[in-house]
Amino acid sequence: MHVTVSNFLDTGDVMIIPVFEGFKKAPNNVTSNLSRGASIAVKSAFLSESFQGKIGESLSVWTKNCQVILLGLGGKKDLTLKKSRDNGAKIFASLSKNHGTKIVIRYTAGWNVKKMTAFAEGMILRDYSFDKYQKKEDDEKGPWSLTCQTIERYQDELALAVNRAHAIATGVHLARDLGNEPANKLYPEEFGRRALEWSKDKQNVEVEVWNNDRLKEEGMFGLIEVGKGSIHKPCMVFFRLNPDADKDLEVPCIVGKGITFDSGGISIKGSAGMDEMKLDMHGSATVFGLFQALHASGYDGRINGITCMAENMPSAEAYRPGDVIDTYSGKTIEVLNTDAEGRNVLADGLWKASELNPSYIIDLATLTGSIVIALGHEATGLFSNNKLLSQKIQDAGDEVDEISWPMPLLPAFEKQMTSSKIADVRNQGKGRWGGASQAAGFLKQFVQEREDKEGKKSQIPWAHLDIAGTAGIWGGETNVTVGHGATGVQVRALHHLITQK
Ligand code: BES
Ligand code: MN
Ligand code: ZN
Repeated sequence: MHVTVSNFLDTGDVMIIPVFEGFKKAPNNVTSNLSRGASIAVKSAFLSESFQGKIGESLSVWTKNCQVILLGLGGKKDLTLKKSRDNGAKIFASLSKNHGTKIVIRYTAGWNVKKMTAFAEGMILRDYSFDKYQKKEDDEKGPWSLTCQTIERYQDELALAVNRAHAIATGVHLARDLGNEPANKLYPEEFGRRALEWSKDKQNVEVEVWNNDRLKEEGMFGLIEVGKGSIHKPCMVFFRLNPDADKDLEVPCIVGKGITFDSGGISIKGSAGMDEMKLDMHGSATVFGLFQALHASGYDGRINGITCMAENMPSAEAYRPGDVIDTYSGKTIEVLNTDAEGRNVLADGLWKASELNPSYIIDLATLTGSIVIALGHEATGLFSNNKLLSQKIQDAGDEVDEISWPMPLLPAFEKQMTSSKIADVRNQGKGRWGGASQAAGFLKQFVQEREDKEGKKSQIPWAHLDIAGTAGIWGGETNVTVGHGATGVQVRALHHLITQK
């Protein structure tokens, strides 16, 4: 989608006029450049009983120039950024290219730049479909264009803000593309190849891929063991943005679970809904998308990303329940369930991240069904060893409407996960209760401690985001910025967290 900001000039093919409740007549500028007849029709619509501007109300007026849509947003004070964004997304979803592809939004009375941006952002985010494997219609209408019209005073600021939203959305859409790819098309090495290709024409990014041989040399058997049942070998992908900046500063490291397909392995899953497990690499998709968003929006700080890519399959060569894994950390894992594979690969990723001496580590993983039981599809589960980091992640999520909800990281869960009779940690808890917290208690064992200036040891600030419930939309969930499939969740929240001053 091409986005511009202008005065009240073009009428477009579809003109959207989002307005607040309580108007007496058509707001100024609404009818500029419409023909006389069209003006009268639109003004009459504003005076009619059937449109008061209540939230959810909409009225279409067909004119010679264009289709005009009056969209009610309710009381001005009640319009949160979320509501504005969601309304943009919803009205966009209702449009059809049959009426042309030029959208004009006329922002009239009562708007500010943040709310205007959120409304446009909703449209931009929703302008996504994954149709590369479908036959194209012959009469392809081409991409949408969007013109945001407002008074002169707001134009520069709005242009900056919508361009930024657009840049960030390229990262969200990339994450969705990766998440939606079927597992026979996107396997670990292919993810690595796409990351390398992405980096090729960009001066300030570096991508490095460690293949199976390199993983062996490094002793990363968390990844190797999980991936060895598949013909597609595992790899670890490193993302570095602005590697030469902030050399004397500690910078964040973002780690992603990248299971390109999770069959469960020898502890195989049931068939119902198994297709959704192509999405089990959404943590890695979010990392890749985040780097795209940061790059496209011109972020100039240094930041690292690591994705742990493997396919979890049953075969004669697959790892088994009862096996012991020598991880990169030196700690051993007793495998009690091969379907608890995400934590095994993250064990290596988190230990590696710790070696980069980061300011903080955030990992993203579609880790447990248990978090979906707890939070449904409404929020990402947030576990952290650091109150300040946890609060910042919550705040960033609230701001952009990608909610992270704090979950407990209790010592009892750590104790459970470190109570193996034959290894240092076990990959499954003692029962099913608190499964998401068990997983988090496991991961915590692989975040390194370090000494501060006074020689006091403490763990690196770390947060784990369990996105199992928020990474995909398959039914009637409430994320209206997505129609179907991968959501690209947490790209916008982490972008906000990292870039805010
Ligand atoms: N990838 C799954 C978790 C998942 C479930 C993601 C539903 C998205 C939707 C994960 O690898 C898994 O299988 N977890 C098991 C762990 C258990 C065996 C300890 C689970 O949650 O059941
Ligand atoms: Mn699994
Ligand atoms: Zn999994």
